[in-house]
Amino acid sequence: MSGRGCRLVWLIGASSGIGAALAGQLLSAGYRVALSARRAERLNALRVGVNGTVENCGVFPVDVTDEAALNTCVKAIEAEMGAIDIAIINAGDYQPMPLTEFDVDLFRRLMEVNYLGVVNCLGALLPVMLPRGAGQILVTASVAGYRGLPLAAPYSASKAAAINLAEALQPELRKQGIQIRVINPGFVDTPLTRKNDFRMPFLITPESAASRIVAQLERDHFEIAFPRRFAWLMKLLRCLPYRLYFPLVNRMTSV
Ligand SMILES: NC(=O)c1ccc[n+]([C@@H]2O[C@H](COP(=O)([O-])OP(=O)(O)OC[C@H]3O[C@@H](n4cnc5c(N)ncnc54)[C@H](OP(=O)(O)O)[C@@H]3O)[C@@H](O)[C@H]2O)c1
Repeated sequence: MSGRGCRLVWLIGASSGIGAALAGQLLSAGYRVALSARRAERLNALRVGVNGTVENCGVFPVDVTDEAALNTCVKAIEAEMGAIDIAIINAGDYQPMPLTEFDVDLFRRLMEVNYLGVVNCLGALLPVMLPRGAGQILVTASVAGYRGLPLAAPYSASKAAAINLAEALQPELRKQGIQIRVINPGFVDTPLTRKNDFRMPFLITPESAASRIVAQLERDHFEIAFPRRFAWLMKLLRCLPYRLYFPLVNRMTSV
C-alpha cells in the first residue's frame, strides 16, 4: 500500500458540492476518508456510491456549530479508523445580503459555521494532533475573504476571519509539527453559489476544484488558491489602495 493509502483524511462538509467531489477523488487517490456533515443520508449514499472503496470510508455525521459533538466525533473516528493525518474543514454556508435586507441573524449564522465552526473543529483536533506532533489541517475559506465584497458582507467577513485565524496560528503550530493551510476557491458551481443571480467569472466544476486540492495536498505551501488567474486578480484587488479599490469595485458591480 502506498503512503497515501495509509493516510486518513477527516473531511468535514463532505455531503455536497466541493466536499462530495473531494471525497470521491481522495478515495480514488488511495486515502482513507472519514466523512462528516449534518446530513447522514447523503454521507451514506456517498460512501456506497464510491465503488470498491467502502472499507476505506467511514461516516461520522456532525454539526460544526456543536463543540461537544465534534469532540465526540474525533474520538469515534480515531477509535474506528485510527489517527487522523489530515483534516479538511470544508463545511460552509453562504447567503448574499443586499443592504436593503440587512440581517443580524444571517451574520451570526455564517460566523457560527464559517468561522466558529473552524474554531470548534480545531478545538477537537488539536488535543489529539499536538501530542503526536504531526498532522495537516486545511481550512476552506474563499477568495471572498481577501477584501470586503459588495452584497456579501456576512460571508466575506466570516471567510476573512477564517484566513486570519489560520495565519495567526500557523507559526506556533508549525513549531509543534502541525501544518495549517487555507484553501481559497474562486467560483465553483455548487448548491452554495446557485443562490447568486449574477454571472460568476471563471466558474469551475466541483470536480475541477477537488482535483486542484488533491494535487496540492502533499505539498507544504500555506495557500491553495484556484482558479489561478482569478485568484491572482483577487490578490491584485487586495493590494490596491482604497482610493483605487472602491471606484473599481463600483464599476464592476451593480451596487
Ligand atoms: N462554491 C464556491 O464557489 C465556493 C467558493 C469559495 C469557497 N467555498 C467554500 O467551500 C466550502 C464548500 O462549499 P460548496 O460550494 O461545496 O457548498 P455546498 O455544496 O453547500 O457544501 C457545503 C457543505 O458544508 C456542510 N455544512 C454546512 N453547514 C454545516 C454545519 N453546520 N455542520 C457541518 N457541515 C455543514 C454541508 O453539509 P450539510 O448540509 O449536510 O451539513 C455541505 O456538505 C464552503 O466552506 C464554502 O464557503 C465555496
